[in-house]
Amino acid sequence: MRVPTLLSFLFLRVVAAKLEVRDGQTATLITFPATPTDLGLKQIPDDAHPFIAPGPDDQRGPCPGMNTLANHGYISRNGVATFEEIVLGSVEAYNLEINFAAFIVAGNMLMRGNPFVNKLSIGGESPLVPPLPGGIGGSATGGMSKHGGFEGDASMTRADAAIGDNADFQDILYDLDLLSLGQFGGDGPEGPNTLFNVQTMSAIKQRNLQMDQMINPEFHFTPIRAVASFTEAAFVLGIFANGTTNQSSLSTIGSFFRNQTFPPNWHRAAAPVSGLVLGGTALAIQAGVDPSIVVASHNDAQGNLVPDTPPPAPFDANLGCGFYFDLFAHMPAGLANATGVLKQNVDLLANAVRASVGGSACNQTLAPFGPPDN
Ligand code: HEM
Ligand SMILES: *[C@@H]1O[C@H](CO)[C@@H](O)[C@H](O)[C@H]1NC(C)=O
Ligand SMILES: *[C@@H]1O[C@H](CO)[C@@H](O)[C@H](O)[C@H]1NC(C)=O
Ligand SMILES: *[C@@H]1O[C@H](CO)[C@@H](O)[C@H](O)[C@H]1NC(C)=O
Ligand SMILES: *[C@@H]1O[C@H](CO)[C@@H](O)[C@H](O)[C@H]1NC(C)=O
Ligand SMILES: *[C@@H]1O[C@H](CO)[C@@H](O)[C@H](O)[C@H]1NC(C)=O
Repeated sequence: MRVPTLLSFLFLRVVAAKLEVRDGQTATLITFPATPTDLGLKQIPDDAHPFIAPGPDDQRGPCPGMNTLANHGYISRNGVATFEEIVLGSVEAYNLEINFAAFIVAGNMLMRGNPFVNKLSIGGESPLVPPLPGGIGGSATGGMSKHGGFEGDASMTRADAAIGDNADFQDILYDLDLLSLGQFGGDGPEGPNTLFNVQTMSAIKQRNLQMDQMINPEFHFTPIRAVASFTEAAFVLGIFANGTTNQSSLSTIGSFFRNQTFPPNWHRAAAPVSGLVLGGTALAIQAGVDPSIVVASHNDAQGNLVPDTPPPAPFDANLGCGFYFDLFAHMPAGLANATGVLKQNVDLLANAVRASVGGSACNQTLAPFGPPDN
């Protein structure tokens, strides 16, 4: 009798030491996943990941990449997932380089998720993602669809939040994108002008920016958007391409955007796609757009596009530094004050962001410094 009692007492002590509960939420320690060993060409999806359309309670949002992962069960099909799940799903299905994947997921988790319970909604608010403990993040975690973080204006297939549906695919916007494809696309197996290329993406972004500036009185191309929106355009060429041919064809891109499913016989990239490669493509796309509209800017009360007030030195050095500053400006300052598991999680996530976008450009260690709700 004595031995089992002692053992169960010790067992309970161990469990109790691991559980940290705040505001009724149980902490989950985030870990940086090990890099998978198979990083080559591979057909996606495999048999274990069939397409299943989302149900009414499943979260989907502005990212066709994440929606597709959820529709195939590479992350939870309910659209609420952990840091590790999204990082590993992105590596497995898209061969995104793991540190770059970690940076994007970490940034989204710190701005729009709950890093105490390690949950992020790829769509809107969800009962599965409670508000941050202690009220440090306002009354709700917004999810990826919440405007003002990575989600912002001048998207390729989503409307601006101030004037329309910023989360769901919009046929009319994609039809306009296809007009640019018809004009600038390369010739391929599916016919003349059927391959998305840099010139096509530049034309799409030029129109996204010009049109939204004209029709959206609250148009704001934030420093985050000035970098992220061109990187998202680079995803179309660098990640959605069939890894066997490196071609982003009309039917392939249509499958991701319209149906949020992998095209038949699709292969992920043959080698990990790094932030450096995607950033290079993003710069090439940006170079084809009118330089006066690619800067951080917004509409004034008269509807004229005016540049944003630059961030304080040294973050005004270049767009990359402005991006870095703007990211931490959208993370609740209370996260920088965290203790216990939350502190460990915030440190891991903030380090993943700093590793990708801090660096020598501004060489400053930032911690979250934004308002609780932004
Ligand atoms: C893994 C490869 C990924 C691909 C191929 C991808 C692809 C894209 C594309 C093409 C867009 C632009 C949609 C448009 O302009 O209409 C986009 C937007 C977005 N992505 Fe992803 N993405 C990836 C990873 C991620 C990750 C890991 C996250 C966060 C966890 C994320 C969050 C977002 C958000 C919040 C937007 C909305 C931005 C906006 O247009 O306002 N993405 N993504
Ligand atoms: C596709 O791109 C990768 C990486 O740049 C390269 O190694 C490969 O040779 C390319 N494949 C084709 C068919 O062009
Ligand atoms: C999307 O799915 C529908 C229904 O399965 C199919 O008819 C259509 O060809 C698909 N479109 C693309 C671009 O994959
Ligand atoms: C990808 O390329 C391979 C080799 O050319 C081809 O067999 C396959 O059908 C292509 N898949 C798509 C979605 O284009
Ligand atoms: C950080 O903690 C200090 C000390 O507890 C407190 O005074 C301050 O208001 C906190 N800041 C935020 C942003 O929560
Ligand atoms: C960053 O600044 C520190 C001191 O402020 C300096 O020692 C270090 O070399 C700098 N690193 C880079 C990459 O510029």
